[in-house]
Amino acid sequence: MFIAGNWKLNCNIEEANDLASNILKNIKGKRINNEIVIFPPFTSLFSVSKIIKNTEIFLGGQDCSDNISGAFTGDISSEMLLDLGCKYVILGHSERRQKYNETNELIKRKSDVAQKVGLTSIICVGESLKDRELGKEKKVIEIQLKNSIPETSNSSNCIIAYEPIWAIGSGKTPTISKIIEMFGEIKQILNSICINDGIKILYGGSVNISNSFEILSNEKIDGALIGGASLNAEDFSKICLEANKLDGKI
Ligand code: PGA
Repeated sequence: MFIAGNWKLNCNIEEANDLASNILKNIKGKRINNEIVIFPPFTSLFSVSKIIKNTEIFLGGQDCSDNISGAFTGDISSEMLLDLGCKYVILGHSERRQKYNETNELIKRKSDVAQKVGLTSIICVGESLKDRELGKEKKVIEIQLKNSIPETSNSSNCIIAYEPIWAIGSGKTPTISKIIEMFGEIKQILNSICINDGIKILYGGSVNISNSFEILSNEKIDGALIGGASLNAEDFSKICLEANKLDGKI
């Protein structure tokens, strides 16, 4: 089971340190059989990396450049993330696709560079409400996957997060059967583009303390990418500990 907390554009250094410390305090002494990963903003990665070093919590970046170094003002490279102790990077989040016009091709280049330096990329895909209303959700996901996943992807360097855009931050979630239907589609497409040796698929979009157990207890769902609820140490820790009860789904 894989539980990821995407903090987005939130927390100054002190708040990020407190959030990480409180999550650690809440899970301390418990046998953790999940991969728990937090994604603070870039400015807090260094301080948070010191707090979670040698603990059950791993670190990730929320994005990275498709370049390694050079004249790219404002960029953060995958090597820099690695240097900060990151193991993962989120790529192609719908907020970046929509608000920064990130294309599938750019996401693929970023992912390629990230995987080459040894990071695991969590590549996000998901349809808009309009796509869903027009019945185009599968087609949209297919185009995103086929054009943003490097052919060299496998279960050790790639994870997919299915996040319907209309479910993010809205309090709305698809039915479990719809999530499973989309996961089946994603699996089939992955089989056709890369070595799908069991690439994990996460669900994301309004996962919270009241719906996490139902979502995560479905055996086809490998984990969750959590935004809003990951900013609350109590809620995030509870979700991690509940997921912990789902033994055998690591
Ligand atoms: P949410 O965000 O949990 O607040 O809906 C999820 C995400 O954007 O990854």
